[in-house]
Amino acid sequence: MPVGYRARHWLPFTQMSGFAAAGAPTFVRASGTTLYDAAGAAVFDAISSVWTTIHGHGHPRIVEAISRQAATLDHATSLGATNPLADELAERLCAATALDAAFFAGDGASAIEAALKMALGYWQACGEPQRVRFVRLRDAYHGDTAGAMGVSDIAVFRSRYAPLIVESLCYEDVAGVLERDDVAAIVFEPRVQAAAGMRLVAPERYAELRATPRPLLIADEIATGFGRTGPMFAYQQLGLAPDLVCLGKGISGGTLALSAVLATQRVYEAFLGAPEANRQFFHGHSYAGNPIACAAALASLDLFAAERTLEHVAELDAEMDALLAPLRAHERVTEVRRAGLMAGIDVTVPAWPVAGELYARGHFTRPIGRTLQLVPPLCSTRDEIAAFVAALTGALDAA
Ligand SMILES: Cc1ncc(COP(=O)(O)O)c(C=O)c1O
Repeated sequence: MPVGYRARHWLPFTQMSGFAAAGAPTFVRASGTTLYDAAGAAVFDAISSVWTTIHGHGHPRIVEAISRQAATLDHATSLGATNPLADELAERLCAATALDAAFFAGDGASAIEAALKMALGYWQACGEPQRVRFVRLRDAYHGDTAGAMGVSDIAVFRSRYAPLIVESLCYEDVAGVLERDDVAAIVFEPRVQAAAGMRLVAPERYAELRATPRPLLIADEIATGFGRTGPMFAYQQLGLAPDLVCLGKGISGGTLALSAVLATQRVYEAFLGAPEANRQFFHGHSYAGNPIACAAALASLDLFAAERTLEHVAELDAEMDALLAPLRAHERVTEVRRAGLMAGIDVTVPAWPVAGELYARGHFTRPIGRTLQLVPPLCSTRDEIAAFVAALTGALDAA
């Protein structure tokens, strides 16, 4: 294969052999809910650039916040130092989650790694160092780093990366998980398992997790957080009080890599002590608390109030079933699942050609197996959703 620009840029989860020939898009510009590619096509970003974009691409308020902050303080380490943007964001995220301390990281997976280590550290500090096991839901996905793979339920991770993986227990398969004395934490995706194809988890499945005492609870809100399922955070609809909440993706409005772990006072305090006690949290990333990313996140939080984002989502939510009805009725669709603005549409035909046809009709999505996803930016209009449904119906007719 000739070595060209494409081959130098090695893409994630992408077969590079013949990649250029596959005619994948090169996105050069974006505005609102639209992505523009180098060939001149304008497409609706029906997956919010993999569940990141919240208020639309290039929102002027976020762009302004980013450029102002870049000119003021681009970056300064968070190791033993802080900055006003990270401080304010920590304050506001604690208020939004009713938790007590925010630890910043980069991507979602690095927030998961930090949360797993916090759980181990917590139990060591509590005099229960035997609590070293983690519990996950069936079909879980929490990211691609070593710890995150261990609490994921992805066959290809196990077959390729077994030497890196510390196996977790499957919540559904192991009885009495809450009573075991070797479990450090239960990690869960609230309501929607996005990477499993927008799989919905019945609220009753979480009921047992309300019991106390129990191992720590880690809510992974990386995909579901910031209004995607309706409320600001999906766990808030489940009556659960997690000890740790992982945020990512939409935290910066979908503009810059930023993630966070929100912790209760109880967990935070387990790491306090005299300097010589060596109890501090031994974990950190170079760009933790990056002021530009935090400025974007603060502007995004402001937009939730200024643009009544959650009210808009509630209005769309009330219309979604009617909007999706033509797909439910389609002979090549077996199921349409949805929580808020996260929808999965299972089809009987190979999904990638359908996505290709959909792209030609002005809509960008990425199949997961035989599931086509619709996870639009929260600012999307009713008409944009209707146009997506019409285009997908047409693409399925043509399949
Ligand atoms: C629920 C969940 N957790 C964690 C991650 C990992 O986030 P990142 O890709 O930012 O590392 C993802 C990514 O899709 C996710 O959906």
